[in-house]
Amino acid sequence: MATDFPAHHRFASGELFLQADRLEPCVLVIFGAAGDLTRRKLLPALYNLVRERALDERFAVIGYSRATQGDQAYRQVLHDSVVSYSRSQPIDESVWQVFAQRIAYVEGNFEDPEGYVALRRRLEEIESTIGSEGNRLFYFATPPSAASIILHRLSEAGVMESSGSDTPWTRVIMEKPYGRDLESATELNRIVGDVLLEDQVYRIDHYLGKETVQNILVARLGNTIFEPLWNRKYIDHIQITAAESIGVEGRGRFYDQTGVLRDMVQSHLLQVLSLCAMEPPVSFAADDIRDKRVEVLRSLRQFDSLEVFNHAVFGQYRGYRDEENVDRQSRTPTYAAIKCYIDNWRWQGVPFYLRVGKHLAQRMTEISVVFRPVPLCLFGRDDVCQELEPNVLTIRIQPDEGMALKITSKRPGDMLEVGSVEMDFSYSETYPHPIKDAYERLLLDAIKGDATLFARRDEVEFAWRFVTPILSAWESATRKQPVFYAEGGEGPVEAESLMDRYSRQWREIE
Ligand SMILES: NC(=O)c1ccc[n+]([C@@H]2O[C@H](COP(=O)([O-])OP(=O)(O)OC[C@H]3O[C@@H](n4cnc5c(N)ncnc54)[C@H](OP(=O)(O)O)[C@@H]3O)[C@@H](O)[C@H]2O)c1
Repeated sequence: MATDFPAHHRFASGELFLQADRLEPCVLVIFGAAGDLTRRKLLPALYNLVRERALDERFAVIGYSRATQGDQAYRQVLHDSVVSYSRSQPIDESVWQVFAQRIAYVEGNFEDPEGYVALRRRLEEIESTIGSEGNRLFYFATPPSAASIILHRLSEAGVMESSGSDTPWTRVIMEKPYGRDLESATELNRIVGDVLLEDQVYRIDHYLGKETVQNILVARLGNTIFEPLWNRKYIDHIQITAAESIGVEGRGRFYDQTGVLRDMVQSHLLQVLSLCAMEPPVSFAADDIRDKRVEVLRSLRQFDSLEVFNHAVFGQYRGYRDEENVDRQSRTPTYAAIKCYIDNWRWQGVPFYLRVGKHLAQRMTEISVVFRPVPLCLFGRDDVCQELEPNVLTIRIQPDEGMALKITSKRPGDMLEVGSVEMDFSYSETYPHPIKDAYERLLLDAIKGDATLFARRDEVEFAWRFVTPILSAWESATRKQPVFYAEGGEGPVEAESLMDRYSRQWREIE
């Protein structure tokens, strides 16, 4: 197919793609180019990067997928996706027109060697046209099971180099879920390691790309008032909640095979937990931070199959079994609440409560750090003392991004009366610019070669080491049914049994 790619000199500096000094040139090849992730997240993210002039002018995208279509038809599909899903609205058609000229399509399935020959030809042609110096970024927006065949076909076709060299570079972004359990993740790591060096592999968990998730470390390590209290002496427990208000939304086949533990706990929730619990790193270099995240995962107490049911509640929303492509007897949990412990010096005895589910009252992800109560109530009267509540630091990951600190204060008046008040910081009220989508940040980081916000090989395996016994206990207890819960509520009341002290309770999902 003839290319209508403009050479980079046709883009005047100062037009759209710029900052050549900031980012290296490259071609991004997306596998699964017609899929949901590409349409809803990746292309809108790239469009916004172009709009903000964050990409080098020697940048192009090749979509690889099995549908029969040419560049123009593919660009039209992506245009419609960007119109629907871009965070900045309405989209700027003149920006899109410039970007669209840098998008090409190659038809092929993952197994077929001929597709990769066509891909190589197209890649080389585009590279020489735009002058991208051979830097290649491959994005596997595919089911995890496809990774092995794509890697092999790419290396057979000579499209992918296993090389530690800095120029030209080859990098691969791999989507979650990374494997289905410890064994399959270890095997996938072995396969990937046969073809690529570890520093070429970018295992993505888009939670790490969120501003508010990165703010966990800044809040902890940039404020004298928090870090000295950040340990078992002052913290009673930590709750991490990821609630969705929607159900499986037409993705029943995928979800029924996956379930909430693989979809959310092994990746997003454990990443957030690591950032809450990790020791301060030696520096903010990628491996210094990743070393500390891994230490947390290594310290997570593992449950044997009997202990699992004392530490976890598995739920399923009513109506799940009636969803399209879901087994009518499915036991797949759409909700889980887990009480876990980190067996290290800092956190001994402090429970971390993880709670995640679909079809709950609200979409909200937040961390609540609940401090210990004051040791003694000095205010004399029982009715006043009963009003004393523990301090709670809440980090709101999404939506309504921000932080709140609950403190006790005297109510105005002649009598001694106390109550809780909140100091609140909201991103949208404080900062004029909207928060960028996580994929924008992560795509840029991968192009820059910064792996800080991506999971390392050992990190993925330690996360699975914690989750796999929980999964196995649930999957082998075939006589147990998940607890069914009503849509639009707080999830199963049985989760309250994990809160083993009268003073502890789940935060409301509001
Ligand atoms: N969607 C999200 O918001 C999201 C968020 C986080 C992570 N992820 C992860 O991202 C990955 C992709 O998710 P998705 O939602 O985009 O899935 P999807 O909509 O099913 O897309 C997968 C794409 O892969 C293509 N494909 C599958 N087998 C192929 C083959 N043998 N040859 C050529 N193409 C093939 C499909 O082509 P056809 O269209 O022809 O079937 C489809 O376009 C998954 O691992 C998912 O867990 C997704």
